[in-house]
Amino acid sequence: MKAVQIQSFGQPLEVAQCVELPDPGTPSAGQAVVALEASPINPSDVLTLSAQYGLLPKLPAVPGNEGVGRVLAVADDVKNVRAGDIVLLPAGAGTWREKLAVPAARLFPMPPDADRQQLAMLTVNPPTALLLLRDVVELQPGEWVIQNAANSGVGSYLITLARLRGLKTVNVVRRDSLIEPLKKQGADVVVVDGPDLSKQIAAATGKAAIRLAIDAIGGEATARLAHSVAPGGTVVNYGALSGEPCRVTQQDLIFRNVTLRGFWLAHWFNQATPADQMAVFGQLIKLVAEGKLHAPVEATYPLSRIKDALAHAMKAGRDGKVLLTPG
Ligand SMILES: NC(=O)c1ccc[n+]([C@@H]2O[C@H](COP(=O)([O-])OP(=O)(O)OC[C@H]3O[C@@H](n4cnc5c(N)ncnc54)[C@H](OP(=O)(O)O)[C@@H]3O)[C@@H](O)[C@H]2O)c1
Repeated sequence: MKAVQIQSFGQPLEVAQCVELPDPGTPSAGQAVVALEASPINPSDVLTLSAQYGLLPKLPAVPGNEGVGRVLAVADDVKNVRAGDIVLLPAGAGTWREKLAVPAARLFPMPPDADRQQLAMLTVNPPTALLLLRDVVELQPGEWVIQNAANSGVGSYLITLARLRGLKTVNVVRRDSLIEPLKKQGADVVVVDGPDLSKQIAAATGKAAIRLAIDAIGGEATARLAHSVAPGGTVVNYGALSGEPCRVTQQDLIFRNVTLRGFWLAHWFNQATPADQMAVFGQLIKLVAEGKLHAPVEATYPLSRIKDALAHAMKAGRDGKVLLTPG
């Protein structure tokens, strides 16, 4: 079967190869064999290939952190899923391959009619958006929240989830052409990043006291968000899209008492109770199945075109995710 494999870390386009690996065969006790239907290329995958992520696989490795698949076969002792079920692949399973043998206990059937491409992106970005809104600052309906990289996958989900909670969003992007599409998607305010960001935000929100800003970029972008929240507000950084360390001025940190903190979904997966994880995913799966939670997809590629797919995923100015779809 075809799989993407890396033998070393380095420039993603150089180290990722499509290779032939042995088929997983029949499932052993407690296992299911699943055929991949779709798996996204996320920024964290690109960072993993170049050894810049917080968690690195042992080499050689098959990359890919999430995806959706169809169960081909289960061991005799497996009762929770059966052949034909559509399932989310376990986080971090190494999903960029045609077939995987996985512990069946980590699988549960998805609604059969849900959009498969949307399900493929469900494990990482939607819970990130939900938890950034839920676990950092206790926001009340009617409050504003600011986010940058607002047209990203996380950003799209965050706009929808905020609206469902009655929160209003200020969405910071780096292209004028995104203003109308994001407003159509439910964004309350969309502004283009720049040195006057805090003034733009104050004008657009009637000088609202904003207690939470959500930063995926780092560098000066973090400083501009820190300057846009109210005194005592919080900036939570969850991404390093600029490749630069987060900056916050002492003016904001000390005199305006702004807090800067981080968020990593991996910590939540390790620490959250099974009941909380089920509640979060139950809510998200329902929203995706109903077509209410959605992120755009710009292109799909077979595993054999991994280098083209990665080059596309690493391009600025995309209008959606790049997915690997072996079928
Ligand atoms: N901490 C966590 O647990 C966690 C979980 C999920 C995701 N993340 C992080 O969340 C971020 C977004 O992920 P995603 O999958 O939603 O992204 P995505 O859908 O692939 O979109 C990428 C986004 O990054 C923007 N971007 C790229 N380089 C940039 C730069 N130098 N300055 C400003 N914006 C830049 C793009 O803007 P243009 O369209 O203008 O190019 C686009 O909005 C990533 O940093 C990812 O690692 C973190």
